[in-house]
Amino acid sequence: MKLAVSGKGGVGKTTLAALIGRSLARRGYATLAIDADPAPNLGVALGLRPEVADRIVPIGEDADLIASKTATGYAGVYNLSFPVDDVVRSRAVPTPSGPDLLVMGTVRAAGGGCTCPSAAVIRALIRRLVVGERQAVVLDLEAGLEHLGRGTAAGVDLLLVLVDGSAAACGIAGRIRSLATELGIPRVALVGSRFEPGAGEAAVIACAERLKMPLVALLPVDPAVALAGREGRAVPDDGPTVERVEGLLDLLLGEADA
Ligand SMILES: Nc1ncnc2c1ncn2[C@@H]1O[C@H](COP(=O)(O)OP(=O)(O)OP(=O)(O)O)[C@@H](O)[C@H]1O
Ligand SMILES: [Mg+2]
Repeated sequence: MKLAVSGKGGVGKTTLAALIGRSLARRGYATLAIDADPAPNLGVALGLRPEVADRIVPIGEDADLIASKTATGYAGVYNLSFPVDDVVRSRAVPTPSGPDLLVMGTVRAAGGGCTCPSAAVIRALIRRLVVGERQAVVLDLEAGLEHLGRGTAAGVDLLLVLVDGSAAACGIAGRIRSLATELGIPRVALVGSRFEPGAGEAAVIACAERLKMPLVALLPVDPAVALAGREGRAVPDDGPTVERVEGLLDLLLGEADA
């Protein structure tokens, strides 16, 4: 399974990516967590100490690696057919939660199409990673539409879009869904995240109905999750949010097996 988590800023993408990654690893999947946010914090959510997470050199900023993969000897001409498995083997960092972590770093496209080699390496990595039987890739995306616009998330088989009950998050979710369809991502589903019970939950459900998108999990505001975030610690080990994410994975894996 190759899945990505997307949505408006601050809705809980990194939290959910960490919870899913840890659960998959505990279920015996060889799990690779990819932090594709230019301000990476998935490592801490997966239990790395902040000073350890800060020392990881992102793939996109590793000039030697990029050059070794893409150089052709001609200025402006890049080799785009290179193996990616060795990048994962040499760069992925084990985390206390179980998944190995790959940090992508910042890739900024100037203008429309980005032909920069670091973007090519990142795209190739995500698209070409072959995911076998008991393997999983969880991709934590930058807020908004940037990654989808560049096609970085193409190649995932499931895109989870988080909404928190706000009109803004639902609007972005609708645009993400349209882009995902253009990119050929086969499955896109909504997750309610970090919403207030009552009116917030009703707004999440109304959003799913308006967008005609499946709503696969509801993860309301959870004080233990908020506290871990405030203190810069790993996502909680147990509690209501963990249980709901387990339920989400039962659903997703059950469907994948069916
Ligand atoms: N269900 C929840 N209940 C309470 N707090 C939450 C919940 N989910 C996430 N949070 C908190 O909200 C903050 C933002 O969460 P997170 O970093 O996962 O969001 P994000 O969508 O990845 O943000 P960004 O767009 O900045 O990458 C964190 O402090 C996190 O602990
Ligand atoms: Mg995040």
